[in-house]
Formats: sequence, C-alpha cells, structure tokens
Amino acid sequence: MSLTAEINKRRTFAIIAHPDAGKTTLTEKLLLFGGAIQTAGAVKSNKIDTATKSDWMEIEKQRGISVATSVMGFEYKGIKINLLDTPGHQDFAEDTYRTLTAVDSVIMVIDCVKGVEIQTEKLMEVCRMRNTPVICFINKLDREGRDPYDLLDEVESKLGIKVRPLSWPIGMGKGFKGVYNLYEKKLNLFTPSQRKLSDDRQVFENLDDPQLDSLIGPANAIQLREDVDLIEGVYPDFVIQDYLDAKIAPVFFGSAVNNFGVNEMLDTFIQIAPIPQTRDTDLRKVAPEESKFSGFVFKIHANMDPNHRNRIAFLRICSGKFERNKPYNHVRGPKPLRFSNVTQFMAQEKEIIDEAFPGDIVGLYDTGNLKIGDSLTEGENLVFTGIPSFSPEIFREVVNKDAMKTKQLEKGLKQLMEEGVAQLFTFEMGARKVVGTVGQLQFEVIQFRLKNEYNATVEFHPMNLYKACWISCSDKKQLDEFVRSKNRYIARDKDDKLVFMAESKSWLQMVQDNYPEIEFHFTSEF
Ligand code: G4P
Repeated sequence: MSLTAEINKRRTFAIIAHPDAGKTTLTEKLLLFGGAIQTAGAVKSNKIDTATKSDWMEIEKQRGISVATSVMGFEYKGIKINLLDTPGHQDFAEDTYRTLTAVDSVIMVIDCVKGVEIQTEKLMEVCRMRNTPVICFINKLDREGRDPYDLLDEVESKLGIKVRPLSWPIGMGKGFKGVYNLYEKKLNLFTPSQRKLSDDRQVFENLDDPQLDSLIGPANAIQLREDVDLIEGVYPDFVIQDYLDAKIAPVFFGSAVNNFGVNEMLDTFIQIAPIPQTRDTDLRKVAPEESKFSGFVFKIHANMDPNHRNRIAFLRICSGKFERNKPYNHVRGPKPLRFSNVTQFMAQEKEIIDEAFPGDIVGLYDTGNLKIGDSLTEGENLVFTGIPSFSPEIFREVVNKDAMKTKQLEKGLKQLMEEGVAQLFTFEMGARKVVGTVGQLQFEVIQFRLKNEYNATVEFHPMNLYKACWISCSDKKQLDEFVRSKNRYIARDKDDKLVFMAESKSWLQMVQDNYPEIEFHFTSEF
C-alpha cells in the first residue's frame, strides 16, 4: 500500500471527559464495534478511587492499566483507528495535555445530567490552543437529564465553541425513544441493551411519513418534526471543513452504556475525522506524506519491574515510514538510535511490529536515552513544537533525608522528571530543588518511587509559591538586570530555561507592572 493510502486509512484521536461522564464506557463500546474486544467489561477504568488514593498498590495498578490501555488500535470498516487513552484522575492532567499533542482530533463526552463540568472546560482550553477538531457526545440520555437545547447552549458558552447537532434525541430518561441522525437522515430506535450491536436503522427521508407516528407515538413524532425544523433553521448547514478547522463541534446524543447513538457517532467519525495532519517544528512544517520518517515522544512509562530500568517511550509518527532496527537521528542526543523492540497496541494486545505509518503510535523500549518532547528523524535536525510544560499549581521543596544516597536521588529525580511525572525547578540561589505538580497525588507517587526504585528517601516541604513563569526579553541586558535584581526568585527548569517563581498573584502582577519589558509565560513554549 502506498504511503498516502496508509495515511488516508488512519484516524488518531483521544476521548476526553470529566471523570464519570462515561469515557471508559464509550471506549469499550468503540472497541466492541471495532471487534477489538468481544465482551463488555473488558476495558478497565483508569480512575483512581479517591478512597484508595494513597494506597500504593492502587497507584501501581493504575500504572499497569494505563500502559495496557495507553493506545488502543483497531480496524473499523477499513479504517485503522488509534484511540489514545487519557488518565481519568485530574492530578494527571499534564499527562492528558501531552497526550492531546499526539492526536489529530478529540471526542468529548458530556454527561447530560451534569452538563459541562470543570475538567471538560480545562481540556477544551488545550484543544483550543492546538485547534484540535472536537466531536461532542452527550451521554446518559437514558437518564432524566437537562434539556438538549440548554445543553447545547452550555457547551457553546462554557467551552467557547460553536456547535452543530448531527443527531437529535427523541425523549429522554424513561421516555427515551431513540435518536434521529440528522447527518444521514436515519432514525435509530432505542432498545436498552448493553450487548446489542445492531445496525437495523430505519431510514426516513421524509419525516412527514405517517409511519413515524406509529413507530414513536404521535406526540414524539410531532415534537421531532418541530425539533428538526428548528435545528435546521437555527443552525447553519454542517460544513466538514468548519469542524476540521475547529470552528464548529458536531454533537451526538446517546447512551454509551446501552450502546446507543455510539454507532451513529462512529460511522460519522470515520467519514469526517481528520487523517494524520501536518505538524509544526522549529524549522518548518512537516507533512505526513514526506518520504522521510519523523516523530516525537509524548509519553514515557517506567517499567513496572524496579529491577529493570527499561522504559517504554510512546512515539507519534508524523511523516514517512518508521522501520524497526533502522538507525534514526535522535535530535537532542549525541548518537543515532535504533530500536529492535517496537510494539504496537492492536486489539489490546501488544505486538512487535516492523513498520508503522503517520498517525500510528509505537512503544519503544528505551534504556534512558529518550525524554518527553524528543524528536526522532531520518536525518534532519528538526524539533517538533507544541509539547510544552505548563506552570504547575502545587510546589514542594525536595528535602533529602539520606545524605548517603544523594547520587541516587539526583538520578531518580532526573528520570522521573523525564517521564513527565512532575516538573523540577532548581533555584539559582542555594540550588534548592522544588518539585511542581498539578495534583497532590504526584508527590506521593514520587516519594514512593524514589524509595522503591532508587533507594532514596525524601520529604516534601510546603512552599509558598503561586506560579512558575518562564521569562524572556528581547533585550538580553534587561533580562540579566531582572535576573540579578530578583535573584531570590529565579530558578532553572529541566532544560535550563529561566523561570520566575512568583509567590502570589498580586505580587506577580506588581512585578509585571514594574518590568513591562520582561515577558512572563505560563507555558515553557513561547
Ligand atoms: P469515566 O471513564 O468517564 O470516568 O466514566 P465511566 O465510563 O466509568 O462511567 C461512569 C459511570 O457512568 C459508570 O457507572 C457507567 O456505567 C455509567 N454510565 C456510562 N454511560 C452511561 C449511560 O449511557 N447511561 C447511564 N445511565 N450510565 C452510564 P458506575 O456505577 O460508576 O459503574 P458501573 O458499576 O456501572 O460500571
């Protein structure tokens, strides 16, 4: 098959949602449709139960689950679908943000009872930053939820994106009768079933057909006709390009647990979702059709076995053909790298593969050469951009409790940071080390893993910090002057970039006002 045919065949996306909206359930149904699993219940939730939050075995189990379900590949109607999993726990938000750099589109699940929740808003911000096309799936229509029009308004106002329903619910909760597919003009009637994967839809080109009244009852039929008239009148025609340009989000309604409306969405998804896209680098744009291979690492997973330091690096292929055992340019590193152990995740099974194409995600066994954001190419020294670190929200000072194990601590911290577990900042003054995270849980994970894998003992002491801001200035003299005068608050990140550690929001504002020539950035890429 030609490279272009391989590219056109692929769709790489992630499902994102506020915890409990139905991400795991929807994932499972998609895998059922794709024939990747045979029974419901095969996909484990990657949520960490808050009750077992500080149970180490739970965290380790979670790491195990998330390796197994990091990427789920399956074929559906001739399309190779790569579905990337995102962590369910909000403390791992940074991991989710990075996963979103490796996809070409997103399906966002919203609970029809709860509407748009906080985590959904945050995730949508990341999609907006990257102009990622989004499809919304409004879930749990078998429950008495909010009015569909209100939900659409809320998506528009809270998520800041225009919507266009492509399916419409007939009733809700106990009175839920089905969904009408506005895109294909097909009616799908609801029979609650967690197992049924039927495709027996009735086609209604003309909603005035009196048969509709007998199928869903006269009241529902009248309501549906009114709704469809209203939607077609109020919403502009659906233009695929507007979705691909992230200007409009198509919306589907359904009930994932009952397998309802999922088929509608999946069939439309494979028709409209973007194929692997062109990507930005520090030198130029890289198109997937380019014959030479390139890709970047967006996730690193430590081996579960502490006796082996092997890690799995997840590589998104951006252009050309990736081949096993071929030496590739490790752009940041000193020497070319070749990989003999290359895995892909098809139908929940890991399998060794010889080649992969743009849009694919492969797992590379690595002994410590790779870190998040690294680019691999077939020669060129280009670096893929758009994989930034975000300012953490919680900061703690690392205190070494065993001076004999300083080296192990340094090594452990370095490796955990390369995995992206958290961010490390080292103050210019006194070389104090500060770990920044987006959630409390990471501190427990780091402490545990340092002890377990590196035999280093640390404590974390609270620090009064509000944000880490990457700083820059077009005038080097002014930047040097700022660094000198604010020396106590200046630190370096893992890449040696200058960071201003602000203690409070108001103080940061004051410093910004006093030094208008200095630019303060909340992500490491600017
Ligand atoms: P998440 O990954 O987004 O966190 O959500 P998950 O799929 O685990 O779903 C959260 C809960 O919502 C689960 O119930 C799940 O069964 C339920 N759910 C998912 N889709 C639907 C739907 O369409 N309708 C209804 N009524 N419920 C739905 P649970 O009680 O937490 O777990 P379980 O014991 O049912 O598995």
